[in-house]
Amino acid sequence: MSDMRHQVDYLVLGSGIAGLSFAVQAARHGSVALLAKRSRSESNTAYAQGGIAAVFGPQDSFDQHIHDTLVAGGGLCREEAVRVTVTEGPTRVRELIELGAEFTRDASPFGYHLTREGGHSQRRVVHAADLTGMEVERTLLGAAAAAGVQFFEDHHAIELILASKLGASSERVVGAYALDTRSGHVHSFVAKAVVLATGGAGKVYLYTTNPDVATGDGLAMAHRAGAAVANLEFIQFHPTCLYHPEAKNFLISEALRGEGGILRNKAGEAFMERYDSRKELAPRDVVARSIDSELKRRGDDSAFLDMTHLGKAFLVEHFPHIYTTCLAFGFDMAVAAIPVVPAAHYVCGGVCTDLQARTTLPGLLAAGEVACTGVHGANRLASNSLLEGLVFGHRAADTARGIAAESPRPPPVPDWDPGGAVPPDEGVIVKQNWDEIRHLMWNYVGIVRTDKRLARAQRRLDNLAGEIQEYYWGYLVDRDMLELRNLAEVARLIVACAQERKESRGLHYTLSWTGDVPPRDTVLVRGRPAPSAWPR
Ligand code: FAD
Ligand code: SIN
Repeated sequence: MSDMRHQVDYLVLGSGIAGLSFAVQAARHGSVALLAKRSRSESNTAYAQGGIAAVFGPQDSFDQHIHDTLVAGGGLCREEAVRVTVTEGPTRVRELIELGAEFTRDASPFGYHLTREGGHSQRRVVHAADLTGMEVERTLLGAAAAAGVQFFEDHHAIELILASKLGASSERVVGAYALDTRSGHVHSFVAKAVVLATGGAGKVYLYTTNPDVATGDGLAMAHRAGAAVANLEFIQFHPTCLYHPEAKNFLISEALRGEGGILRNKAGEAFMERYDSRKELAPRDVVARSIDSELKRRGDDSAFLDMTHLGKAFLVEHFPHIYTTCLAFGFDMAVAAIPVVPAAHYVCGGVCTDLQARTTLPGLLAAGEVACTGVHGANRLASNSLLEGLVFGHRAADTARGIAAESPRPPPVPDWDPGGAVPPDEGVIVKQNWDEIRHLMWNYVGIVRTDKRLARAQRRLDNLAGEIQEYYWGYLVDRDMLELRNLAEVARLIVACAQERKESRGLHYTLSWTGDVPPRDTVLVRGRPAPSAWPR
Protein backbone atom coordinates (compact mmCIF):
# COMPACT_ATOMS: atom_id res chain seq x y z
CA MET A 1 0.00 0.00 0.00
CA SER A 2 1.31 3.48 -0.79
CA ASP A 3 -0.06 6.36 1.19
CA MET A 4 2.49 9.04 0.55
CA ARG A 5 3.87 10.71 -2.57
CA HIS A 6 6.80 13.09 -2.34
CA GLN A 7 8.06 15.42 -5.04
CA VAL A 8 11.39 17.25 -4.73
CA ASP A 9 14.13 18.62 -6.92
CA TYR A 10 16.74 16.15 -5.68
CA LEU A 11 16.35 12.70 -4.19
CA VAL A 12 19.38 11.30 -2.36
CA LEU A 13 19.58 7.66 -1.33
CA GLY A 14 22.09 7.41 1.52
CA SER A 15 23.34 9.50 4.44
CA GLY A 16 27.07 8.71 4.39
CA ILE A 17 29.81 11.08 3.30
CA ALA A 18 28.79 11.01 -0.38
CA GLY A 19 25.04 11.54 0.08
CA LEU A 20 25.51 14.23 2.71
CA SER A 21 28.21 16.07 0.73
CA PHE A 22 25.81 16.13 -2.18
CA ALA A 23 22.84 17.22 -0.07
CA VAL A 24 24.66 20.09 1.64
CA GLN A 25 25.55 21.57 -1.77
CA ALA A 26 22.31 20.77 -3.59
CA ALA A 27 20.12 22.28 -0.87
CA ARG A 28 21.50 25.69 -1.90
CA HIS A 29 19.55 25.56 -5.14
CA GLY A 30 16.63 23.20 -4.66
CA SER A 31 14.60 20.98 -2.37
CA VAL A 32 16.36 17.81 -1.21
CA ALA A 33 14.87 14.61 0.26
CA LEU A 34 17.45 12.25 1.76
CA LEU A 35 16.57 8.64 2.56
CA ALA A 36 18.46 6.45 5.03
CA LYS A 37 17.43 2.89 5.55
CA ARG A 38 18.07 2.98 9.29
CA SER A 39 18.99 5.98 11.43
CA ARG A 40 20.62 8.83 9.56
CA SER A 41 23.99 8.28 11.25
CA GLU A 42 24.22 4.54 10.53
CA SER A 43 26.56 4.18 7.57
CA ASN A 44 30.01 2.87 6.70
CA THR A 45 31.18 6.46 6.96
CA ALA A 46 30.41 6.57 10.67
CA TYR A 47 32.77 3.64 11.33
CA ALA A 48 35.77 5.01 9.43
CA GLN A 49 38.84 5.11 11.60
CA GLY A 50 42.06 5.93 9.73
CA GLY A 51 41.06 9.17 8.01
CA ILE A 52 40.92 11.10 4.75
CA ALA A 53 43.91 11.11 2.42
CA ALA A 54 44.74 14.56 1.02
CA VAL A 55 47.87 16.46 0.10
CA PHE A 56 48.78 18.83 2.94
CA GLY A 57 52.23 17.67 4.06
CA PRO A 58 55.29 19.87 3.41
CA GLN A 59 57.06 17.11 1.44
CA ASP A 60 53.92 15.93 -0.34
CA SER A 61 52.61 16.74 -3.82
CA PHE A 62 49.61 15.93 -6.01
CA ASP A 63 51.90 13.92 -8.27
CA GLN A 64 52.99 11.67 -5.41
CA HIS A 65 49.43 11.05 -4.23
CA ILE A 66 48.36 10.31 -7.82
CA HIS A 67 51.33 8.00 -8.28
CA ASP A 68 50.60 6.07 -5.06
CA THR A 69 46.94 5.68 -6.05
CA LEU A 70 47.84 4.42 -9.52
CA VAL A 71 50.39 1.95 -8.15
CA ALA A 72 47.89 0.52 -5.64
CA GLY A 73 45.26 0.35 -8.41
CA GLY A 74 47.26 -2.23 -10.37
CA GLY A 75 47.06 -0.50 -13.75
CA LEU A 76 43.27 -0.21 -13.80
CA CYS A 77 42.70 3.25 -12.35
CA ARG A 78 41.18 5.86 -14.59
CA GLU A 79 43.90 8.46 -14.35
CA GLU A 80 41.66 11.45 -14.96
CA ALA A 81 39.37 10.41 -12.09
CA VAL A 82 42.39 10.00 -9.81
CA ARG A 83 43.69 13.44 -10.78
CA VAL A 84 40.36 15.11 -10.10
CA THR A 85 40.03 13.38 -6.72
CA VAL A 86 43.54 14.17 -5.57
CA THR A 87 43.63 17.79 -6.74
CA GLU A 88 40.16 18.74 -5.45
CA GLY A 89 40.65 16.81 -2.18
CA PRO A 90 42.38 19.46 -0.06
CA THR A 91 39.70 22.07 -0.85
CA ARG A 92 36.94 19.63 0.12
CA VAL A 93 38.73 18.75 3.38
CA ARG A 94 39.15 22.43 4.23
CA GLU A 95 35.43 22.92 3.64
CA LEU A 96 34.73 20.16 6.15
CA ILE A 97 36.94 21.96 8.64
CA GLU A 98 35.06 25.20 7.94
CA LEU A 99 31.81 23.36 8.62
CA GLY A 100 33.18 22.51 12.07
CA ALA A 101 34.97 19.16 11.72
CA GLU A 102 37.43 18.79 14.59
CA PHE A 103 40.39 16.84 13.26
CA THR A 104 43.40 15.96 15.40
CA ARG A 105 45.69 18.96 15.60
CA ASP A 106 49.44 19.35 15.93
CA ALA A 107 52.06 22.08 15.83
CA SER A 108 52.86 21.78 12.09
CA PRO A 109 52.25 24.75 9.75
CA PHE A 110 49.13 22.99 8.44
CA GLY A 111 47.95 22.68 12.04
CA TYR A 112 46.59 19.13 11.76
CA HIS A 113 48.28 15.80 12.41
CA LEU A 114 48.79 13.62 9.34
CA THR A 115 48.99 9.89 9.85
CA ARG A 116 50.31 7.29 7.46
CA GLU A 117 48.84 4.13 5.95
CA GLY A 118 49.87 1.33 3.59
CA GLY A 119 50.80 2.29 0.02
CA HIS A 120 51.24 6.01 0.84
CA SER A 121 54.72 7.38 0.25
CA GLN A 122 53.99 10.33 2.57
CA ARG A 123 52.10 11.13 5.72
CA ARG A 124 48.87 12.50 4.26
CA VAL A 125 45.91 11.18 6.24
CA VAL A 126 43.84 13.78 8.10
CA HIS A 127 41.97 12.19 11.00
CA ALA A 128 40.02 12.71 14.21
CA ALA A 129 42.02 10.34 16.44
CA ASP A 130 40.63 6.92 15.41
CA LEU A 131 37.00 8.07 15.09
CA THR A 132 37.30 10.08 11.87
CA GLY A 133 34.06 8.80 10.36
CA MET A 134 31.96 9.79 13.34
CA GLU A 135 33.35 13.30 13.24
CA VAL A 136 32.66 13.57 9.50
CA GLU A 137 29.08 12.29 9.98
CA ARG A 138 28.45 14.66 12.87
CA THR A 139 29.68 17.61 10.84
CA LEU A 140 27.83 16.82 7.64
CA LEU A 141 24.57 15.81 9.33
CA GLY A 142 24.57 19.15 11.14
CA ALA A 143 25.28 21.06 7.94
CA ALA A 144 22.60 19.19 6.00
CA ALA A 145 19.96 19.80 8.66
CA ALA A 146 20.92 23.49 8.76
CA ALA A 147 20.63 23.66 4.97
CA GLY A 148 17.04 22.41 5.10
CA VAL A 149 17.54 18.88 3.79
CA GLN A 150 14.47 16.73 4.58
CA PHE A 151 15.53 13.46 6.19
CA PHE A 152 13.53 10.26 5.87
CA GLU A 153 15.02 7.74 8.27
CA ASP A 154 14.01 4.07 8.23
CA HIS A 155 13.09 4.51 4.56
CA HIS A 156 14.45 1.63 2.57
CA ALA A 157 14.61 2.33 -1.17
CA ILE A 158 13.22 -0.68 -3.01
CA GLU A 159 13.43 0.16 -6.69
CA LEU A 160 14.28 3.07 -8.97
CA ILE A 161 11.39 4.42 -11.02
CA LEU A 162 12.05 4.62 -14.76
CA ALA A 163 10.14 6.95 -17.07
CA SER A 164 10.03 4.08 -19.58
CA LYS A 165 7.88 2.10 -17.13
CA LEU A 166 5.43 5.02 -17.12
CA GLY A 167 4.96 4.96 -20.87
CA ALA A 168 7.72 7.44 -21.83
CA SER A 169 10.30 6.47 -24.42
CA SER A 170 13.28 7.58 -22.29
CA GLU A 171 15.29 5.46 -19.82
CA ARG A 172 15.30 8.43 -17.46
CA VAL A 173 15.28 7.70 -13.72
CA VAL A 174 12.58 9.86 -12.13
CA GLY A 175 12.51 8.64 -8.55
CA ALA A 176 12.32 5.64 -6.27
CA TYR A 177 9.86 3.61 -4.25
CA ALA A 178 10.80 3.23 -0.60
CA LEU A 179 9.49 1.12 2.23
CA ASP A 180 8.90 2.92 5.51
CA THR A 181 10.13 0.07 7.67
CA ARG A 182 8.31 1.37 10.74
CA SER A 183 4.84 1.54 9.18
CA GLY A 184 5.28 -1.07 6.43
CA HIS A 185 3.95 1.41 3.84
CA VAL A 186 5.63 2.02 0.49
CA HIS A 187 6.02 5.65 -0.56
CA SER A 188 6.96 7.15 -3.90
CA PHE A 189 9.63 9.84 -4.22
CA VAL A 190 9.82 11.72 -7.51
CA ALA A 191 12.69 14.06 -8.38
CA LYS A 192 14.43 15.83 -11.24
CA ALA A 193 17.68 14.08 -10.35
CA VAL A 194 18.29 10.99 -8.21
CA VAL A 195 21.62 10.37 -6.47
CA LEU A 196 22.66 6.90 -5.41
CA ALA A 197 24.90 7.11 -2.36
CA THR A 198 24.00 3.81 -0.76
CA GLY A 199 27.53 2.71 0.07
CA GLY A 200 29.06 -0.75 -0.04
CA ALA A 201 28.15 -4.41 0.18
CA GLY A 202 30.40 -5.94 2.84
CA LYS A 203 27.49 -8.01 4.17
CA VAL A 204 27.75 -10.23 1.10
CA TYR A 205 30.62 -11.89 3.00
CA LEU A 206 30.48 -13.84 6.22
CA TYR A 207 33.21 -11.74 7.83
CA THR A 208 33.17 -8.03 7.19
CA THR A 209 34.16 -4.77 8.81
CA ASN A 210 30.95 -3.20 7.48
CA PRO A 211 27.84 -2.43 9.55
CA ASP A 212 24.51 -4.12 8.75
CA VAL A 213 23.37 -1.42 6.30
CA ALA A 214 26.01 -2.45 3.74
CA THR A 215 23.96 -4.87 1.64
CA GLY A 216 24.65 -3.44 -1.81
CA ASP A 217 21.10 -2.14 -2.34
CA GLY A 218 22.05 0.73 -4.62
CA LEU A 219 24.24 -1.43 -6.79
CA ALA A 220 21.49 -4.03 -7.18
CA MET A 221 18.80 -1.41 -7.87
CA ALA A 222 20.92 0.35 -10.48
CA HIS A 223 21.76 -2.93 -12.18
CA ARG A 224 18.10 -3.96 -12.27
CA ALA A 225 17.23 -0.58 -13.75
CA GLY A 226 19.77 -1.12 -16.52
CA ALA A 227 22.79 0.95 -15.42
CA ALA A 228 26.24 -0.35 -16.34
CA VAL A 229 28.36 -1.67 -13.47
CA ALA A 230 32.04 -2.62 -13.47
CA ASN A 231 35.05 -4.02 -11.63
CA LEU A 232 33.10 -5.99 -9.02
CA GLU A 233 35.71 -8.72 -8.78
CA PHE A 234 37.80 -6.24 -6.80
CA ILE A 235 36.60 -6.70 -3.24
CA GLN A 236 39.03 -5.30 -0.72
CA PHE A 237 39.73 -7.38 2.37
CA HIS A 238 41.06 -5.32 5.24
CA PRO A 239 44.05 -7.17 6.70
CA THR A 240 43.39 -6.51 10.36
CA CYS A 241 40.15 -7.02 12.26
CA LEU A 242 40.09 -8.10 15.86
CA TYR A 243 39.82 -11.88 16.13
CA HIS A 244 37.30 -12.49 18.88
CA PRO A 245 33.94 -14.29 18.65
CA GLU A 246 32.01 -11.29 19.94
CA ALA A 247 33.94 -8.45 18.30
CA LYS A 248 31.89 -8.51 15.05
CA ASN A 249 35.07 -7.98 13.04
CA PHE A 250 35.98 -4.77 14.81
CA LEU A 251 38.47 -2.92 12.62
CA ILE A 252 42.05 -2.40 13.76
CA SER A 253 43.04 0.62 11.72
CA GLU A 254 45.84 0.47 9.21
CA ALA A 255 47.08 3.66 10.83
CA LEU A 256 48.43 1.41 13.61
CA ARG A 257 50.74 -0.21 11.10
CA GLY A 258 51.42 3.27 9.71
CA GLU A 259 52.67 4.26 13.14
CA GLY A 260 54.90 1.18 13.48
CA GLY A 261 52.69 -1.84 14.31
CA ILE A 262 54.30 -5.18 13.40
CA LEU A 263 52.49 -8.27 12.13
CA ARG A 264 53.64 -11.50 13.77
CA ASN A 265 52.60 -15.12 13.47
CA LYS A 266 51.69 -17.26 16.45
CA ALA A 267 55.38 -18.15 16.90
CA GLY A 268 56.13 -14.44 17.28
CA GLU A 269 57.94 -14.09 13.92
CA ALA A 270 57.53 -10.82 12.01
CA PHE A 271 56.53 -12.43 8.71
CA MET A 272 55.74 -9.56 6.33
CA GLU A 273 59.35 -9.16 5.18
CA ARG A 274 59.11 -12.63 3.66
CA TYR A 275 56.24 -11.46 1.44
CA ASP A 276 56.99 -7.87 0.43
CA SER A 277 59.84 -5.41 0.90
CA ARG A 278 57.34 -2.74 1.99
CA LYS A 279 56.43 -5.09 4.87
CA GLU A 280 53.46 -3.90 6.99
CA LEU A 281 53.00 -0.87 4.74
CA ALA A 282 52.55 -2.75 1.48
CA PRO A 283 49.14 -2.10 -0.15
CA ARG A 284 46.22 -3.92 1.46
CA ASP A 285 45.79 -6.64 -1.13
CA VAL A 286 49.38 -7.75 -0.50
CA VAL A 287 49.09 -7.64 3.31
CA ALA A 288 45.73 -9.46 3.41
CA ARG A 289 47.03 -12.20 1.09
CA SER A 290 50.22 -12.53 3.10
CA ILE A 291 48.25 -13.03 6.32
CA ASP A 292 45.95 -15.51 4.57
CA SER A 293 48.95 -17.42 3.28
CA GLU A 294 50.70 -17.41 6.66
CA LEU A 295 47.56 -18.71 8.41
CA LYS A 296 47.16 -21.50 5.85
CA ARG A 297 50.85 -22.40 5.95
CA ARG A 298 50.94 -22.73 9.74
CA GLY A 299 47.34 -23.77 10.38
CA ASP A 300 46.84 -20.83 12.76
CA ASP A 301 43.51 -19.10 13.44
CA SER A 302 44.87 -15.58 13.50
CA ALA A 303 47.91 -13.41 13.06
CA PHE A 304 48.96 -10.88 15.71
CA LEU A 305 49.52 -7.14 15.55
CA ASP A 306 52.24 -6.03 17.91
CA MET A 307 52.16 -2.42 19.11
CA THR A 308 53.71 -2.99 22.50
CA HIS A 309 56.87 -1.03 21.55
CA LEU A 310 54.77 2.11 20.89
CA GLY A 311 53.94 2.51 24.56
CA LYS A 312 50.62 2.96 26.33
CA ALA A 313 50.63 6.78 26.34
CA PHE A 314 51.03 6.94 22.54
CA LEU A 315 48.38 4.28 21.93
CA VAL A 316 45.85 5.89 24.23
CA GLU A 317 46.43 9.33 22.73
CA HIS A 318 46.30 8.32 19.05
CA PHE A 319 43.96 5.33 19.14
CA PRO A 320 41.65 5.82 22.13
CA HIS A 321 38.66 4.04 20.58
CA ILE A 322 40.65 1.02 19.42
CA TYR A 323 42.56 0.83 22.69
CA THR A 324 39.45 0.84 24.89
CA THR A 325 37.50 -1.51 22.61
CA CYS A 326 40.32 -4.05 22.64
CA LEU A 327 40.56 -3.71 26.40
CA ALA A 328 36.84 -4.45 26.71
CA PHE A 329 37.50 -7.73 24.88
CA GLY A 330 40.37 -8.54 27.24
CA PHE A 331 43.33 -7.39 25.09
CA ASP A 332 45.69 -4.70 26.31
CA MET A 333 47.52 -3.52 23.18
CA ALA A 334 50.21 -1.91 25.28
CA VAL A 335 51.07 -5.22 26.92
CA ALA A 336 50.67 -7.93 24.29
CA ALA A 337 50.12 -8.32 20.53
CA ILE A 338 46.43 -8.61 19.61
CA PRO A 339 44.93 -11.35 17.40
CA VAL A 340 43.86 -10.14 13.93
CA VAL A 341 42.34 -11.62 10.77
CA PRO A 342 41.31 -10.17 7.38
CA ALA A 343 37.64 -9.39 6.60
CA ALA A 344 35.71 -8.00 3.61
CA HIS A 345 35.93 -4.23 3.75
CA TYR A 346 35.31 -2.30 0.54
CA VAL A 347 33.85 -2.73 -2.95
CA CYS A 348 36.22 -1.12 -5.47
CA GLY A 349 33.85 -1.54 -8.42
CA GLY A 350 30.30 -0.32 -8.65
CA VAL A 351 27.88 1.66 -10.79
CA CYS A 352 29.87 3.23 -13.63
CA THR A 353 30.02 7.00 -13.56
CA ASP A 354 31.80 9.66 -15.53
CA LEU A 355 33.75 12.51 -13.95
CA GLN A 356 30.49 14.38 -13.38
CA ALA A 357 29.03 11.45 -11.38
CA ARG A 358 26.57 10.60 -14.16
CA THR A 359 25.67 6.94 -14.52
CA THR A 360 24.70 5.47 -17.88
CA LEU A 361 21.02 6.14 -17.07
CA PRO A 362 19.80 9.73 -17.54
CA GLY A 363 18.66 11.38 -14.33
CA LEU A 364 20.68 8.97 -12.16
CA LEU A 365 23.93 10.03 -10.50
CA ALA A 366 26.09 7.96 -8.18
CA ALA A 367 28.80 8.86 -5.66
CA GLY A 368 30.78 7.19 -2.90
CA GLU A 369 31.34 3.47 -2.46
CA VAL A 370 28.39 2.48 -4.67
CA ALA A 371 30.01 4.20 -7.66
CA CYS A 372 32.81 3.08 -9.89
CA THR A 373 34.48 6.32 -10.89
CA GLY A 374 37.69 4.54 -11.81
CA VAL A 375 39.64 6.08 -8.92
CA HIS A 376 40.43 2.77 -7.22
CA GLY A 377 41.13 0.48 -10.16
CA ALA A 378 42.00 -3.02 -8.97
CA ASN A 379 42.75 -2.01 -5.38
CA ARG A 380 41.90 1.07 -3.32
CA LEU A 381 44.62 3.01 -1.57
CA ALA A 382 43.85 3.44 2.13
CA SER A 383 41.79 6.51 3.08
CA ASN A 384 41.02 7.38 -0.54
CA SER A 385 37.39 6.36 -0.09
CA LEU A 386 36.20 9.16 2.17
CA LEU A 387 38.11 11.47 -0.13
CA GLU A 388 36.36 10.14 -3.23
CA GLY A 389 32.96 10.44 -1.51
CA LEU A 390 33.64 14.07 -0.65
CA VAL A 391 34.89 15.02 -4.09
CA PHE A 392 32.27 13.19 -6.14
CA GLY A 393 29.38 14.05 -3.79
CA HIS A 394 30.27 17.67 -4.43
CA ARG A 395 30.70 17.16 -8.18
CA ALA A 396 27.35 15.36 -8.35
CA ALA A 397 25.67 18.43 -6.87
CA ASP A 398 27.04 20.62 -9.68
CA THR A 399 25.84 18.11 -12.25
CA ALA A 400 22.41 17.71 -10.67
CA ARG A 401 21.87 21.45 -10.78
CA GLY A 402 22.32 21.37 -14.55
CA ILE A 403 20.02 18.37 -14.90
CA ALA A 404 17.32 20.00 -12.81
CA ALA A 405 17.45 23.17 -14.89
CA GLU A 406 16.78 21.19 -18.06
CA SER A 407 14.42 18.57 -16.67
CA PRO A 408 10.83 18.40 -17.68
CA ARG A 409 8.35 18.02 -14.84
CA PRO A 410 8.47 14.35 -13.86
CA PRO A 411 5.43 12.38 -14.99
CA PRO A 412 2.83 11.24 -12.46
CA VAL A 413 3.96 8.02 -10.79
CA PRO A 414 1.52 5.27 -9.88
CA ASP A 415 1.41 3.92 -6.34
CA TRP A 416 3.43 0.82 -5.51
CA ASP A 417 1.45 -2.22 -6.60
CA PRO A 418 1.88 -5.21 -4.28
CA GLY A 419 -0.13 -7.42 -6.66
CA GLY A 420 -1.43 -10.54 -4.92
CA ALA A 421 1.40 -10.58 -2.33
CA VAL A 422 0.54 -11.75 1.19
CA PRO A 423 2.33 -11.09 4.51
CA PRO A 424 5.55 -13.13 4.79
CA ASP A 425 5.26 -16.28 6.90
CA GLU A 426 8.55 -18.07 6.17
CA GLY A 427 11.27 -15.94 7.75
CA VAL A 428 13.40 -19.07 7.96
CA ILE A 429 13.83 -19.07 4.16
CA VAL A 430 15.29 -15.58 4.26
CA LYS A 431 17.67 -16.48 7.06
CA GLN A 432 18.77 -19.73 5.44
CA ASN A 433 19.48 -18.07 2.07
CA TRP A 434 21.20 -15.12 3.67
CA ASP A 435 23.56 -17.39 5.64
CA GLU A 436 24.22 -19.57 2.64
CA ILE A 437 25.19 -16.66 0.42
CA ARG A 438 27.55 -15.17 2.99
CA HIS A 439 29.24 -18.51 3.65
CA LEU A 440 29.68 -19.43 0.02
CA MET A 441 31.01 -16.00 -0.89
CA TRP A 442 33.56 -16.24 1.92
CA ASN A 443 34.65 -19.77 1.01
CA TYR A 444 34.52 -19.64 -2.79
CA VAL A 445 34.90 -15.97 -3.72
CA GLY A 446 37.26 -14.75 -1.00
CA ILE A 447 40.86 -13.58 -0.88
CA VAL A 448 42.12 -16.49 -3.00
CA ARG A 449 39.97 -17.81 -5.87
CA THR A 450 39.99 -20.59 -8.44
CA ASP A 451 37.89 -21.21 -11.56
CA LYS A 452 36.33 -24.24 -9.89
CA ARG A 453 35.29 -22.37 -6.76
CA LEU A 454 33.81 -19.56 -8.84
CA ALA A 455 31.82 -22.01 -10.97
CA ARG A 456 30.48 -23.68 -7.82
CA ALA A 457 29.49 -20.31 -6.37
CA GLN A 458 27.75 -19.37 -9.60
CA ARG A 459 25.68 -22.58 -9.66
CA ARG A 460 24.57 -22.18 -6.06
CA LEU A 461 23.74 -18.51 -6.52
CA ASP A 462 21.71 -19.21 -9.67
CA ASN A 463 19.59 -21.67 -7.69
CA LEU A 464 19.17 -19.31 -4.78
CA ALA A 465 18.24 -16.44 -7.07
CA GLY A 466 15.26 -18.43 -8.38
CA GLU A 467 14.01 -19.17 -4.86
CA ILE A 468 14.49 -15.59 -3.77
CA GLN A 469 12.60 -14.16 -6.76
CA GLU A 470 9.70 -16.48 -6.07
CA TYR A 471 9.61 -15.35 -2.47
CA TYR A 472 9.91 -11.68 -3.45
CA TRP A 473 6.89 -11.79 -5.77
CA GLY A 474 4.76 -13.89 -3.42
CA TYR A 475 5.06 -11.88 -0.21
CA LEU A 476 4.68 -8.28 0.88
CA VAL A 477 8.09 -6.62 1.03
CA ASP A 478 9.95 -6.30 4.31
CA ARG A 479 13.49 -5.17 5.05
CA ASP A 480 15.07 -8.61 5.41
CA MET A 481 13.61 -9.78 2.14
CA LEU A 482 14.72 -6.67 0.26
CA GLU A 483 18.24 -6.95 1.60
CA LEU A 484 18.47 -10.63 0.78
CA ARG A 485 17.33 -10.00 -2.80
CA ASN A 486 19.96 -7.31 -3.23
CA LEU A 487 22.67 -9.34 -1.55
CA ALA A 488 22.01 -12.23 -3.93
CA GLU A 489 22.10 -9.93 -6.93
CA VAL A 490 25.39 -8.33 -5.87
CA ALA A 491 26.94 -11.73 -5.12
CA ARG A 492 26.08 -12.88 -8.63
CA LEU A 493 27.60 -9.73 -10.12
CA ILE A 494 30.81 -10.23 -8.13
CA VAL A 495 31.09 -13.80 -9.33
CA ALA A 496 30.28 -12.84 -12.93
CA CYS A 497 33.05 -10.21 -12.95
CA ALA A 498 35.49 -12.59 -11.22
CA GLN A 499 34.83 -15.25 -13.83
CA GLU A 500 35.65 -12.79 -16.59
CA ARG A 501 39.05 -11.97 -15.14
CA LYS A 502 41.38 -14.89 -15.83
CA GLU A 503 44.51 -13.17 -14.51
CA SER A 504 45.49 -12.24 -10.96
CA ARG A 505 45.41 -8.50 -10.62
CA GLY A 506 45.09 -6.26 -7.57
CA LEU A 507 42.45 -7.68 -5.28
CA HIS A 508 41.47 -10.48 -7.65
CA TYR A 509 43.87 -13.34 -6.98
CA THR A 510 43.27 -16.65 -8.68
CA LEU A 511 45.24 -19.88 -8.40
CA SER A 512 43.88 -20.88 -11.83
CA TRP A 513 45.97 -18.22 -13.57
CA THR A 514 48.60 -19.90 -15.68
CA GLY A 515 50.24 -16.65 -16.75
CA ASP A 516 49.48 -17.17 -20.43
CA VAL A 517 46.31 -15.06 -20.60
CA PRO A 518 46.67 -11.45 -21.78
CA PRO A 519 46.11 -8.68 -19.20
CA ARG A 520 42.47 -7.71 -19.00
CA ASP A 521 41.01 -4.21 -18.95
CA THR A 522 37.95 -3.26 -16.88
CA VAL A 523 35.24 -5.90 -16.60
CA LEU A 524 32.09 -4.06 -17.57
CA VAL A 525 28.66 -5.54 -17.00
CA ARG A 526 26.70 -3.81 -19.67
CA GLY A 527 23.52 -2.03 -18.81
CA ARG A 528 20.75 -0.61 -20.93
CA PRO A 529 21.52 1.20 -23.19
CA ALA A 530 24.99 -0.29 -23.68
CA PRO A 531 27.52 2.28 -22.47
CA SER A 532 29.93 3.57 -25.03
CA ALA A 533 31.63 6.34 -23.12
CA TRP A 534 33.05 4.58 -20.08
CA PRO A 535 36.59 3.65 -20.97
CA ARG A 536 37.72 2.41 -17.57
P1 FAD B 1 27.97 4.94 3.51
O1 FAD B 1 28.70 5.80 4.42
O2 FAD B 1 28.07 3.48 3.72
O3 FAD B 1 26.43 5.34 3.56
C1 FAD B 1 25.46 4.56 2.92
C2 FAD B 1 24.09 5.12 3.23
O4 FAD B 1 23.16 4.53 2.35
C3 FAD B 1 23.57 4.85 4.63
O5 FAD B 1 22.95 6.01 5.09
C4 FAD B 1 22.51 3.78 4.43
O6 FAD B 1 21.45 3.85 5.34
C5 FAD B 1 22.00 4.16 3.05
N1 FAD B 1 21.34 3.09 2.33
C6 FAD B 1 21.86 1.92 1.89
N2 FAD B 1 20.91 1.23 1.25
C7 FAD B 1 19.79 1.98 1.27
C8 FAD B 1 18.47 1.79 0.78
N3 FAD B 1 18.08 0.69 0.15
N4 FAD B 1 17.57 2.78 1.00
C9 FAD B 1 17.91 3.90 1.66
N5 FAD B 1 19.14 4.13 2.15
C10 FAD B 1 20.06 3.17 1.95
N6 FAD B 1 37.58 4.89 4.17
C11 FAD B 1 38.49 5.88 4.24
O7 FAD B 1 38.73 6.60 3.28
N7 FAD B 1 39.16 6.07 5.42
C12 FAD B 1 38.96 5.32 6.52
O8 FAD B 1 39.56 5.54 7.56
C13 FAD B 1 38.02 4.26 6.45
N8 FAD B 1 37.80 3.45 7.51
C14 FAD B 1 36.80 2.52 7.43
C15 FAD B 1 36.51 1.76 8.55
C16 FAD B 1 35.45 0.86 8.53
C17 FAD B 1 35.14 0.03 9.74
C18 FAD B 1 34.68 0.72 7.36
C19 FAD B 1 33.52 -0.22 7.31
C20 FAD B 1 34.99 1.47 6.23
C21 FAD B 1 36.05 2.36 6.25
N9 FAD B 1 36.36 3.13 5.14
C22 FAD B 1 37.31 4.10 5.24
C23 FAD B 1 35.56 3.06 3.93
C24 FAD B 1 34.57 4.24 3.94
O9 FAD B 1 34.13 4.45 5.26
C25 FAD B 1 33.38 4.00 3.05
O10 FAD B 1 33.76 3.54 1.81
C26 FAD B 1 32.62 5.31 2.87
O11 FAD B 1 32.30 5.85 4.12
C27 FAD B 1 31.36 5.09 2.06
O12 FAD B 1 30.61 6.27 2.10
P2 FAD B 1 29.26 6.35 1.30
O13 FAD B 1 28.71 7.71 1.52
O14 FAD B 1 29.46 5.89 -0.08
O15 FAD B 1 28.31 5.23 1.97
C1 SIN C 1 41.66 1.91 8.38
O1 SIN C 1 41.60 2.77 9.25
O2 SIN C 1 42.49 1.00 8.36
C2 SIN C 1 40.67 1.96 7.25
C3 SIN C 1 41.14 2.91 6.24
C4 SIN C 1 40.44 2.70 4.94
O3 SIN C 1 39.67 1.77 4.76
O4 SIN C 1 40.71 3.50 4.03
